Amino acid sequence: MGAGDDKSEDQSQHAKTPRHVAIVMDGNGRWAQRRNLPRHSGHRAGVESVRVTVEACRKRGVQVLTLFAFSSENWNRPKEEIGLLFDLFMMALQRDVKRLDKNNVQLRIIGDRTAFPDKLQQRIYKSEELTAGNSGLILQIAANYGGRWDITQAAKAVAERVQRGELQPQEITEATLSEALCFADLPEVDLFIRTGGEQRISNFILWQTAYSEFYFSEQLWPDFGAAEFDLALEAFSQRERRFGRTSEQIKEQKIQ
Ligand code: IPE
Ligand code: IPE
Ligand code: MG
Repeated sequence: MGAGDDKSEDQSQHAKTPRHVAIVMDGNGRWAQRRNLPRHSGHRAGVESVRVTVEACRKRGVQVLTLFAFSSENWNRPKEEIGLLFDLFMMALQRDVKRLDKNNVQLRIIGDRTAFPDKLQQRIYKSEELTAGNSGLILQIAANYGGRWDITQAAKAVAERVQRGELQPQEITEATLSEALCFADLPEVDLFIRTGGEQRISNFILWQTAYSEFYFSEQLWPDFGAAEFDLALEAFSQRERRFGRTSEQIKEQKIQ
């Protein structure tokens, strides 16, 4: 049975620790501006928070961590900032992949990578190849990712199956589309965290957050650490996930 096969009943019974945590790492720019530093200093400081959060996930038994690093819409930023973000991504991959590998972390990059410089694409390929056999935490970095892009590319893949005659349009179910999305082999997002105080999704994971619990933190991403992560886990453990059922049904289920 794959990690994504568990039914929602299992999720409500074992809701204490989320299996899949997704984070919108927001607030780097404001962190830097408050210190009269250029925005890229904030992005650089944010790399340390990534390390701390990966470590916290390993310790707390989270199976999948998905981090939003660069959205489809972030192309609208000044060219200089985009360039510096890519340099930082490249540097972090070069510097940290060996350590991730040693810690049994499997690294995956999700998003449309075809728009990246060739060198970065090669580095991504090598990093994924190196860590592919690891069975500990799965760390997904969403880069040039958008929830709408994901659903669109899935719809295209399904349309191609129809065109090849493998599938009739009336046979398309939610599962057909789900299977064509990024990380279809992984559990759906249990806990969605956004730092930086904004309460919006900004086109991060859409389909796979249909039943996620949301946690919004006022902390700017470079200030986010293990203590704040634990607060999010604590809040999650207090939530009652009903998946459309009544509270009474959930309580009955827990007693049985
Ligand atoms: C998030 O921090 C990082 C990226 C979007 C790459 P921001 O750069 O959006 O920081 P703020 O929101 O301007 O403070
Ligand atoms: C979302 O943050 C993208 C990432 C954290 C990578 P943004 O800062 O780009 O989102 P908006 O523009 O405030 O919605
Ligand atoms: Mg922002």
